[in-house]
Order: sequence, then C-alpha cells, then structure tokens
Amino acid sequence: MGAGYMMPEEVREDVRRIRSLTEKPFGVNLFVPDLGASAEADEIQRMEEILSRYSIELGLEEKPSLPGRDYESIYRKKLEVVWEEGVPVCSFTFGIPDSTTLHELKKRGTVVAGTATNVNEAVEWEEAGADLIVAQGSEAGGHRGTFHKEESGLVGSMALIPQVADAINCPVVAAGGVMDARGIAASLMLGAAGVQLGTAFLTCRESGAHPLYKNAFLHATEEQTALTKAFSGKLARGVGNRFIEEMDGQPALPYPLQNDMTAPLRKQAAKLERPEFMFLWSGQGVRLAEALTVKELMMKLVSGTGDLLDK
Ligand SMILES: Cc1cc2nc3c(=O)[nH]c(=O)nc-3n(C[C@H](O)[C@H](O)[C@H](O)COP(=O)(O)O)c2cc1C
Repeated sequence: MGAGYMMPEEVREDVRRIRSLTEKPFGVNLFVPDLGASAEADEIQRMEEILSRYSIELGLEEKPSLPGRDYESIYRKKLEVVWEEGVPVCSFTFGIPDSTTLHELKKRGTVVAGTATNVNEAVEWEEAGADLIVAQGSEAGGHRGTFHKEESGLVGSMALIPQVADAINCPVVAAGGVMDARGIAASLMLGAAGVQLGTAFLTCRESGAHPLYKNAFLHATEEQTALTKAFSGKLARGVGNRFIEEMDGQPALPYPLQNDMTAPLRKQAAKLERPEFMFLWSGQGVRLAEALTVKELMMKLVSGTGDLLDK
C-alpha cells in the first residue's frame, strides 16, 4: 500500500480495511523525508511565476504557493500507525530511516524493505538492518528511490540486479521494467529472490489510475517515457507530455516543495481531463501493459514464470 502521500489516519483506515479483506501479509510503503529540503524566497517566487501561467490556463483562481506542511511530523505519525497496527511489512523509498525507527519496527516483528538504486545504497541498507532490498533499475516508473547523488541512481536492471545480489546477503527484489513472466524469470536468473511490478498493474481494471492515464499507457511506447523533476522536484519516470517538455531546463524546487506547489495544477488538470498537465508515471516496459484484471495478470505471471523456469 503506497502511503507516501497519505495522511496518518487514512493509513490507519486503509490498513484496517486490508485486514478486513485478507489474513495474508501486506506491506505499507513510506517516503523517508529529506529534512533539509528548503528553497530561497527568490527561487520560490520564480517557480510561482512559472506555474502561474499554467494556473491561469487551467482557470485556477488561487496563485501557486507553498502550504508549509510539517513533513517530519506527518511521517512520524504514519510510522506510529504502522507500529500500532502491527503492519507485517514496511518498505521505504527516498532514504534510510534513523536507527531508532528501524529498531522499533523490527522489535514489533515488522519486515523492513529498503529501496536501493545502486550497490552502495544497497550495502548501506543492509548495514542498517533491512530484511530485504528492492533494487530499482532505471527503467522503473515513478520516482527514483535514490538517496545518494541523483546521477548515481540510473543503472538499468540488467546491470543492477546481479551486482546488488553479489554485494549483499539479504534477498533482492528486482524492480524496473518487469512486465511479464519473461521479466520475472530473467530477474530470478540475475540473482533476485522476488520482483516488484508497478507499471504492469496501472492498466489493470481495478487500478485507481485516471481513465485518461490508463488510456495513455495502453497507447504509449517504450521511447515515450522521460525522467523529470518538474512535477515533484525529485527525478521520476513518466510518459512525456507538454508540462514535462516546457519545464525542461527550469530548475525545480527540491522535493517535496515542488510537489506541493504543482499539486493544485495536477488536481485541476485531472478534473478538466487535461493529461498534458498530469503526471503519468510509467516505466519503460509500458508497451507490454495490458487491460486485464489483477487476478488475470497474477495468474499469467505465475503460470508463465513456472513454464519458463521449467524450460
Ligand atoms: C504510478 C507509480 C507509482 C509508484 N509509487 C511508488 C511509491 O509510492 N513508493 C515506491 O517505493 N515506489 C513507487 N513506485 C515505483 C515502484 O515501486 C517500482 O519501483 C516500479 O514501478 C518498478 O518498475 P516498473 O514500473 O517498470 O514495474 C511507483 C511506480 C509507479 C509506476
């Protein structure tokens, strides 16, 4: 359950709802906040001016501005929910939580998973006590989990997975570009113990993605995705659109400030059905996306992988 953007009480409600639907284990995923994220007044003003053009075009009355949220306190409260509810698995991206947090989770028997985008990050995660590590290749849709230098986190899955598997002892979960049984079998051959798929589920019938978003994916091709910081301030991969193109070369505010400042634009764009201003996070495997139910996709992945491994 991706809880990075959720409020603590929403996390609690959804965790309880999942529990009411299944006795099987599940995971909650959190974003580790960068507590040093800040911007100068002139940088904020510059971004407000750039985004104003789009606000006007979308008919928004309020000018873009920063809501001034206490990110650390929201994150801490979400962690408390994870502890209190005894969530079986907690995975993190964008960084490594402090040792007290990891200790509290492990004390309660929660399995801790960390996202790494290069070998050094994976080693750091293992030293911090991760039970398993998600190795996220550069093909992946959505945000890069990189917490070292941005440029150090753009290794493709084919190269990343075996190098991470060689460097650490805990199980590696391959993420990035895995769309079907071939990708799963290949990941296992490369040394992964499991896989994490994002893009493949976006076009599933149960997915809550905006219908325009789903439609864009079903017609997108592998060369149409782009890495951008324009929406959130953190590098992320999505299907290219007008906003990404026009913001190319403009220095974004650091995450999560840019994310907060573009939020009203994105919300309005979704309401008005204007995908050129929405983030359409997607991985490079997008051409392989199908409109299936989750059950159909899972059955296809499991039986297809079994067949390939038998060969
Ligand atoms: C729409 C979308 C949202 C995502 N949200 C999160 C998230 O909240 N937390 C996270 O750790 N990864 C997130 N990811 C990344 C996935 O966990 C995973 O690394 C990635 O999807 C794997 O590559 P693939 O998209 O090629 O399958 C997201 C990916 C997509 C496509």
